Amino acid sequence: MAKDVIIALDFPSKEKALTFLDKFEGEEAYVKIGMELFYKEGPEIVREIKKRGHKIFLDLKIHDIPNTCIGATKSLLNLDVDMINYHAAGGYNMLSGAKGAIDESGKDVISLAVTMLTSTDEDIMHDELKIDSSLNLEEVVLSYAELTKKSGLSGIVCSALEVPKIKEKLGEDFVTVTPGIRKVKNASDDQKRVVTPKEARELGSDYIVVGRPITKADDPVKEYKEIKKEFLGE
Ligand code: C5P
Repeated sequence: MAKDVIIALDFPSKEKALTFLDKFEGEEAYVKIGMELFYKEGPEIVREIKKRGHKIFLDLKIHDIPNTCIGATKSLLNLDVDMINYHAAGGYNMLSGAKGAIDESGKDVISLAVTMLTSTDEDIMHDELKIDSSLNLEEVVLSYAELTKKSGLSGIVCSALEVPKIKEKLGEDFVTVTPGIRKVKNASDDQKRVVTPKEARELGSDYIVVGRPITKADDPVKEYKEIKKEFLGE
């Protein structure tokens, strides 16, 4: 299975994102475009970045009734994105409907589900979302991952620390895309459960998503290359 580093383009505008990507000319790095940039700039930012030769994970976390979700998927497929994602909480009909739209298009797109948001802890899950109080967070994540696989999607976004268990239960081919990556463990920001690129490789992650360690580096390309080398074990 392909393994790669995905740079999270968490920028507020097209100008900032493209100025950053200018440094990566010739690198053809895999990038993630999230809601902030997409809602500001629209589909044009995807076309522009795609034109520069980058692969794109469009991280919009789609969640709606199956019919709307299928329509949204068809619209995104027109943009030739390489990876898209959904909320597993949308349920089987939504997830399998989306997968059906991808298959119909004949395009080679990796489809992922978000299980529980990392901002959702066990208290929120039980008290606010009213999810079965006899299940802990890990059990719910695993059951959402099983639903994702049953719906035909490629895999999930999760912590690298969860990868061994996910692969054990759902198979080596079930794709894991893992954020929360830091080169040194004590880097202080809002990511709580972090692993290094080397640990992510050892844990079996297929793709790591790296934002600030690259976007805020003095030399982003150098940092990207080092992280990629460490993750791929070259
Ligand atoms: O800057 P940093 O490396 O922390 O960025 C990680 C990226 O991965 C951000 O775009 C963030 O929204 C995303 N992400 C995450 N944790 C999740 C899901 C997505 O950090 N559980």
